[in-house]
Amino acid sequence: MATDRSLFPPLSKSSMAAVVEMTRGCTFDDFILAPRRSIVVSRDPAVIDLSCRLSRRITLNRPIVSANMDTVTRAPMAIVQAEEGGIGIIDRGFRPGEIDPQVREVEKVKRSQHGVISDPYAVAPEAALEEAAALMAASRVGTLVVLDGERKLKGVLTQRDMRFVDRAGARVADRMTPVDRLVVHEGDLDHEKAARLMVERKVKKLPLVTADGRLLGLITARDITRQRQVPFATRDRHGRLMVGAAIGATGDYLERAAELVRAGVDVLVIDIAHGHSIVMQRALEAFRKAFPDVELIAGNVATAEGARFLLDLGADGIKVGIGPGGGCTTRITTSFGVPQVQALVECRLAVGESGIGVIADGGIKRHGSLALALLFGGDCAMLGSAFAGTEEAPGEVVHKSVLIPESQKSVKVPFKVLRGMASLEAIRDRLDVEDADRVELEALGAEGMEISVPARGSARTIVRDMIKHLCSSISYGGADSLRGLREQFWRDPATFVIKQSESARRESYDR
Ligand code: XMP
Repeated sequence: MATDRSLFPPLSKSSMAAVVEMTRGCTFDDFILAPRRSIVVSRDPAVIDLSCRLSRRITLNRPIVSANMDTVTRAPMAIVQAEEGGIGIIDRGFRPGEIDPQVREVEKVKRSQHGVISDPYAVAPEAALEEAAALMAASRVGTLVVLDGERKLKGVLTQRDMRFVDRAGARVADRMTPVDRLVVHEGDLDHEKAARLMVERKVKKLPLVTADGRLLGLITARDITRQRQVPFATRDRHGRLMVGAAIGATGDYLERAAELVRAGVDVLVIDIAHGHSIVMQRALEAFRKAFPDVELIAGNVATAEGARFLLDLGADGIKVGIGPGGGCTTRITTSFGVPQVQALVECRLAVGESGIGVIADGGIKRHGSLALALLFGGDCAMLGSAFAGTEEAPGEVVHKSVLIPESQKSVKVPFKVLRGMASLEAIRDRLDVEDADRVELEALGAEGMEISVPARGSARTIVRDMIKHLCSSISYGGADSLRGLREQFWRDPATFVIKQSESARRESYDR
């Protein structure tokens, strides 16, 4: 049987016991890995296989997920993450009842790229030109297909066709390029062949039709170009980027789920601070009843019992991490949590070969921690603060005065806000918590904080740097793929893992 390269390899009983013992009470910075003879001639991410599981039915080419936080993931971040081979989870930081804004974010991602556009914006031939112009303005699309009542293709109307034209009284049919003057293909067509035809016939849009002229879809040169530019992108079966969305565990979450599914969301996330709970049990039971086939990630947990609990309730993926997050104060305020490496090992062993995804959620500050998260148990990793302050993160840039100690001069530095989803600020905006329908804000125990993060460039650069460093880790570990590194690691973990003394830790990571 062929091995699914995206699956975490099976773990041997003897190595499990050794790793459990070695990692108890430990997190990323407690470890360093011993290098092995490298077998790769190039660390190029284009040739090193990093495929991994997000959830039971979703595979990623790159093991990175942007966190469902309202200062991290909305459509711009989700688009970049999916283009780079990971995925973004749109947060639920919209007030109860405010489902539309979240749905629109999902739609923006799903409409950003296509293989074949199956439902391109369309007008009727007898429609007024004014109507077509309004549709173009509202949808920001420069080309409309012209369809009759039976969805038969009659022509194509572009912005250029309307330039300098007196629209009063004019109809779409007066200005469109009629179907007999268009390059049209009968039946389905893959991108390779479509590109050849479009070059040959010098067109940028190629409608696909049935034998009797009904529209099947539209292929655009822009989509073909984009697909070639980002070959590792996470796409659905229609060639659209994949995206996830969080829905919470109480209140409007089932209605929200229904709307998001209708908008084409690929995976939903039900996460609350303490996912091993009665609140989660009720939520998952109701969810599974209503949506037996929708891909679902649940969290957060950090123990073997917690992981099995979510698995048994039908989760396709679990988020592991109680308290390691950058914007998180749970451990400080409650004294509960599990050091992240211990949590990952326990949860990995608990889910065994069930095929669900283990998402290592939180605490990845150095790029090198990503490799550790993926070896000790994560199929992929979720990151929040790593992407805070980037161009794609939501929120305004504010300029703050910062004193330069050397010159004693102050300069204005651009910042963006990162806040924990359980911070008072985020809760106040959302007014929706997991364990109460009506909330007394003052009575709430916040478990997150708000911090300012210097504004920096695109999240795409950060993802690419992280991926390059992960490929270097694979090279240092004597493997040529993520799966290969995991196999070597779990075959004999003791030869890889070095538990550091305090001074070794300083030597490794304090700079
Ligand atoms: P990083 O370290 O990447 O972690 O910023 C992102 C994860 O942090 C979690 N998160 C929180 N945890 N209180 C918490 O206890 C919070 O307010 C909070 N906000 C986010 C979340 O799991 C996220 O993916």
